[in-house]
Parts: sequence; C-alpha cells; structure tokens
Amino acid sequence: MWSSSVIPTFLFLSVFPAGLAPDPGSATQGSDIYPPFWDQTDGDIAEFPVQNNKIIVDPWKYMDRLRLYKILIRESNKYFASFGKNNTGNVFWALTIFYGRLLKTDRFSEPSNSSRCAYESGGSSCISINSGWGGINYYVVIMYFLAAIESEFFGKLPYEVELLSREEYRSNFCYSVKECRASYPQVMDVANRLYKYLLSRKKVSSTRGIPQYDTDEDTVIFKMWAAHQAAVDVAKPKFSDVSFYPSETERDFTMDFLLSIEFFEATLYRPYFESSAEFLAGFPHRLLTDQDHNVLTSNFSRREKALLTAVKLIQKINKSTGGLFLAIWKKLMTSKFARDMARFFTKNLLLIPI
Ligand SMILES: *[C@@H]1O[C@H](CO)[C@@H](O)[C@H](O)[C@H]1NC(C)=O
Ligand SMILES: *[C@@H]1O[C@H](CO)[C@@H](O)[C@H](O)[C@H]1NC(C)=O
Ligand SMILES: *[C@@H]1O[C@H](CO)[C@@H](O)[C@H](O)[C@H]1NC(C)=O
Ligand SMILES: *[C@@H]1O[C@H](CO)[C@@H](O)[C@H](O)[C@H]1NC(C)=O
Repeated sequence: MWSSSVIPTFLFLSVFPAGLAPDPGSATQGSDIYPPFWDQTDGDIAEFPVQNNKIIVDPWKYMDRLRLYKILIRESNKYFASFGKNNTGNVFWALTIFYGRLLKTDRFSEPSNSSRCAYESGGSSCISINSGWGGINYYVVIMYFLAAIESEFFGKLPYEVELLSREEYRSNFCYSVKECRASYPQVMDVANRLYKYLLSRKKVSSTRGIPQYDTDEDTVIFKMWAAHQAAVDVAKPKFSDVSFYPSETERDFTMDFLLSIEFFEATLYRPYFESSAEFLAGFPHRLLTDQDHNVLTSNFSRREKALLTAVKLIQKINKSTGGLFLAIWKKLMTSKFARDMARFFTKNLLLIPI
C-alpha cells in the first residue's frame, strides 16, 4: 500500500539514526534566519497608520503581518527570559520564522502566476488572497493577534484595530474580534488561554538585571501550540482545494506538512529561535511542481528530501491506520518521558541526509 520509495526510506531513517552529518549548505546561524525585512519594523503598534480613530492593518500585505508577529514577540519577551539568551526563547519564534520562510519560498504568490506577490517584490510584497498558504497563515496570525487584543494582553490600545477586508472570498475570513469571536469562539478561547496564562505569571527573580517570570515551559508551549492547531483546524478545510496551489503536489505537501506538525506539536516541540531554524532547514526552498511528485528523483537538497519524505510517510501512516496512529501518538505524548524521547527522535528524523 505504501509507495515503493517510502518503505526503504523509512527503514533507512530508522536504522541509521546516528548519521547526523549536517548538510553543509544549511547552517542554522546568521541573519538569514530572521524573516525578510525583519529590521524594517520595530514591533510597535504605533507604526500602523491611524484613520478615523482606528489603527489600520492590511492583512494582505507581507509587512503588516510581519509587524503583528513582531508585536507579539516584543510584548511577550519578558515571560520567556529564562528559556534562552537575548529573547531567543520566545515561543513565538517558530511561527515567525516560518512566516518569513513562506515569503522566501514564494508560497504567498498567486497560484496561477508565481510572479505576483513573489518574494522578489521586496518589502512591499503582497499576500495573494488566492494563496492557500496565505489563507492558512491568515488564521494563524490573525487569531493570535485578535485574541491578544481581546484578552488585553497589549493593555488598553489607544484606538480600535481595523483589519482591511477584501471582497474576494469574504466569507472565508473573519476580520475583527467581534466577527472572529462570533464565527470561531473555540479558536479565540484557546488563544485567550495562552494570554491569560502569561498575564498571570509572576516575577520570581532577576538574572543580570533581567526579571525572570515563573513561566512553566511545558505549560506555555502546550498552550501556544494548542492555539496554533485550533487556527489550522479552522483554516485547513477552507484551503484544501487544489485551486489555491500552483500544483497538486504542492497542495498535497501543504496538507501533509500540516498533519505532520500535529505530531511535532504533541511532543511539545521547542518553538525557540535555534530549534525552529533547525526544523525548517529542510523546508522546500521553492514551490513544488507536479514533476516533484517523486521526491527522490526531484532536485531538492538532501535535507529537503528528508523532510518531504517524512511528511509523506506520516500522512500515509495516518491514512492506513484510519487516524488511529495520531490518536495513539497524542495519548503517548501526555507522558513527559515519552515526549522527551520523541523530541529527540523526530528531530533526528528531519536531520538525516538521504
Ligand atoms: C540579540 O537579538 C537581536 C535581535 O533579535 C540581534 O540583532 C542581536 O544580534 C542579538 N545579540 C546577540 C548577542 O546575539
Ligand atoms: C504575472 O504577474 C506579473 C507580475 O504581476 C505580470 O507582470 C505578468 O504579466 C503576469 N503574467 C501573466 C501571464 O498573467
Ligand atoms: C529543479 O526542478 C525545478 C522543477 O522541476 C526546475 O524548475 C529547476 O530549474 C530545477 N533546478 C535545477 C538547478 O535543476
Ligand atoms: C487521518 O486519517 C483519517 C482516517 O483516514 C482521516 O479521516 C483524517 O482526515 C486524516 N487526517 C489528516 C489530517 O489527513
């Protein structure tokens, strides 16, 4: 039932867990880990224009969403001081770095014409409303942001925030706290729990002048990933149609990748700066064409092939077990010991060069 390439690859991956030679070309250091144009925003909500006593955010502009990510990071840094030096332990890094990667790999471009809203358009790049990744990412970042407003995580804002809506696919999106609360109360609730938890943390000590909060690592990472999953669960069925992607292979990859993320989330994968960069080193650097259907004969790098193969395999396992494998996995991962083991092995799975 599994394709002939998957089984040998899986055996290879399981038999040689020690072959961890990193790909020379994929260093996880340096400024290219940051999302493109990261330095062009301060992460201050005052950077958005104000019109008619409203803060205007255009969620179909790359820079505007980037600002939202940076605001989330800036406003939450203090709670994560003990998880990594220089704010590298902020749990919002994974999603922020991934967002930049989506632009860099042209995944926000128009499915029928990848020159539109492409990375080449620079800091003024748009996000195509016809892009499946653009739509899924909309839910992720907008739900985190609106829930932060709703729970007053940023304190009281001087004005209300207005998200500029588009006529196209109007009913596919919610554009305000009120609208999102009415349509997806469960997503807003899950995200609110994250902020309520953070707001209830207390300063317990101070290291070299930096206050440390009593944030529990597993608890906060669980809540962060839960909010992500809740948003993805709403978005995924809306953007599963092949018309939102340049090829069927890219669509399948998107769905398989999102499913695989569920496995990683269950291990409470550390969403910090370095670990996220490491995880994403194998994320395909360009859109998939139908010629890439057979991963092993495509011209992707070894790290990319390892990731593409792993997500395909996870999808096949889910399908052949009727979803039972994921259910069992999630159950297993309620044990801290199992999570620690799984984090070690799943991380290595993506590092193994094929
Ligand atoms: C600390 O982080 C900032 C931005 O996040 C970066 O520009 C700076 O180089 C970092 N400093 C060190 C010492 O890593
Ligand atoms: C694709 O988009 C680019 C940039 O917007 C445009 O210049 C070009 O004419 C478009 N090509 C087609 C075939 O529509
Ligand atoms: C790799 O494959 C893609 C799609 O098949 C193609 O567009 C690209 O030019 C190829 N790159 C190289 C370096 O062969
Ligand atoms: C996992 O498999 C089950 C059963 O085939 C299916 O209903 C479910 O949609 C699959 N999950 C994903 C995310 O593909």
